Amino acid sequence: MIYGIGEFVTPEGRAAQAGKKQGQVKILQNAYILVRNGRIAEIGEGKPPFTGPSLDVEGRVVTPGLVDPHTHAVFAGSRVEEFLARAQGEKYTGGGILTTVAATQAASEEELVHLAKPRLLRMLSQGVTTVEIKSGYGLTLKDERKMLLAIRKLSEGLPMTLVPTFLGAHAFPPELSREQYLDILVEEMIPSVAKESLAQFCDVFCDHGFYTVEEACRILTAARAFGLGLKIHADELSYVGAAELAGELAATSADHLLYISEAGIAALARAGTVAVLLPGTAFVLDEPYPPARKLIEAGVPVALGTDFNPGSCPLASLPWVMSLAVLKLRMTPEEVLSAVTLNAAAALGLAGELGSVEPGKRADLVVWDIQSFREIPYWMGQNLVWAVIKGGHKVISPDSRS
Ligand code: NIG
Ligand code: FE
Repeated sequence: MIYGIGEFVTPEGRAAQAGKKQGQVKILQNAYILVRNGRIAEIGEGKPPFTGPSLDVEGRVVTPGLVDPHTHAVFAGSRVEEFLARAQGEKYTGGGILTTVAATQAASEEELVHLAKPRLLRMLSQGVTTVEIKSGYGLTLKDERKMLLAIRKLSEGLPMTLVPTFLGAHAFPPELSREQYLDILVEEMIPSVAKESLAQFCDVFCDHGFYTVEEACRILTAARAFGLGLKIHADELSYVGAAELAGELAATSADHLLYISEAGIAALARAGTVAVLLPGTAFVLDEPYPPARKLIEAGVPVALGTDFNPGSCPLASLPWVMSLAVLKLRMTPEEVLSAVTLNAAAALGLAGELGSVEPGKRADLVVWDIQSFREIPYWMGQNLVWAVIKGGHKVISPDSRS
């Protein structure tokens, strides 16, 4: 049992919340939460009716565990020189992806696990209990499989829910023709990844200089036939109509959307596709921010993620992204909270299971050392987490913080 909660706040529901509903969260003062078998059993106000093993949070804030629905957290090598060159005015083209591909191909599965583990633990210490991780720095069946196996290993060794996504269509390997690689993706890689259950989603980098809308459609249609959920890196570097495709395919999520069109917004709204916005990338690349207000007003459920990767976004802090969402996307703290919990869970097909604190859902909770959840995006760049509970177990504890 967790008691002495000064402010308890959660979105509600088992599906993504859109429009006005995205900004409506449940708030209780002086609350308690009863956990049984790793799940939420009861939520109440006032004096708890139960004695037994308990955690007094002494008036602090409790929210659902945060969900980061878009990362590239498994990779080898660094691109610090590319980062610094960009800071001096060079443009991001995505060409650096192949630098990370070379380093990742040269690394073993164990090395990838060893490199990614501390990154994920830093995310956990900031309140993130569920993380999506993409492959895409392998670009051969062997190396993509190695990345996905590394994600599986990581999830066995960490108190976090990790969701693997196959992003073989991230770039084109220089040693093959475009047509050759497309055939390999569709005829060998997707079937093999699906058969081994190595991924839950398939994603495509659909953008200028990368996969065309037609190619993305072919890849995602094949992925769907093998039972994979669909995601698209859509209209990130330029407008290509990728959001329209996401709507047409009723993809689970369309991500980035810096250059989304009005038709793209309408297509996402019609399909109920979650827009995963990644303002950290716009911040790092000094690009325009995605139109969050327009998306919300059009009734598209908005989620937020970090896009953590060694190229376009070395920023791994979801709370920092929450600050960017308030400041640059003009989202309210309530909308932002839904975006990093329930809507992010929906972007991973997990909204029935986690993303809000309600009876029956998994007991993933964050205790914050503040007076109100509205302060999470306000005290920028500071770790305000006091404790993290995953599946009913304390995994970051107050003793290590005070
Ligand atoms: O989401 N857009 C493609 N992929 C990543 C960047 C990957 C990289 O630069 O290594 C992104 O921005
Ligand atoms: Fe990305």
